[in-house]
Amino acid sequence: MSLYESLGGEPAVDAAVELFYKKILADERVCDFFNGINMARQKRMQKAFLTVAFGGPNHYTGSGLRKAHKRAVDFGLNDSHFDAVIEDLRATLMELGVPTDKVREATAIAETTRNDVLCR
Ligand code: HEM
Repeated sequence: MSLYESLGGEPAVDAAVELFYKKILADERVCDFFNGINMARQKRMQKAFLTVAFGGPNHYTGSGLRKAHKRAVDFGLNDSHFDAVIEDLRATLMELGVPTDKVREATAIAETTRNDVLCR
């Protein structure tokens, strides 16, 4: 069973999005990047992020991820911001009671997108 399935698939992602979204927008290290981005778009971003982290169906190729983040990178998005989001992901999953080994698996998958998201 994939991590995505074992965590509960799309309904689990949807449940996690709400909490993750709150954490990101309350996180002073990254919230400014979402200023002026409409809510629907922000939620799409959080959902895509979590789906990828859960090892679910990834609709974004490397170049799609680069394109989606080009503007943020131009505004200074860097490794420290990526680290912060990974930390928020970890906190979200722990709070939802996901077992530690699965949390580690999810953060490791999210890590694989770092260079694409940061456009390098
Ligand atoms: C697995 C890693 C990630 C995935 C799959 C992902 C996915 C996406 C997607 C699909 C969008 C476009 C949403 C839309 O327009 O409908 C987006 C936009 C965005 N993402 Fe991510 N993202 C990831 C990591 C990050 C990280 C670490 C940050 C750091 C803060 C971030 C910040 C943003 C911002 C600010 C936008 C809006 C860009 C704009 O419209 O100018 N993303 N992301």
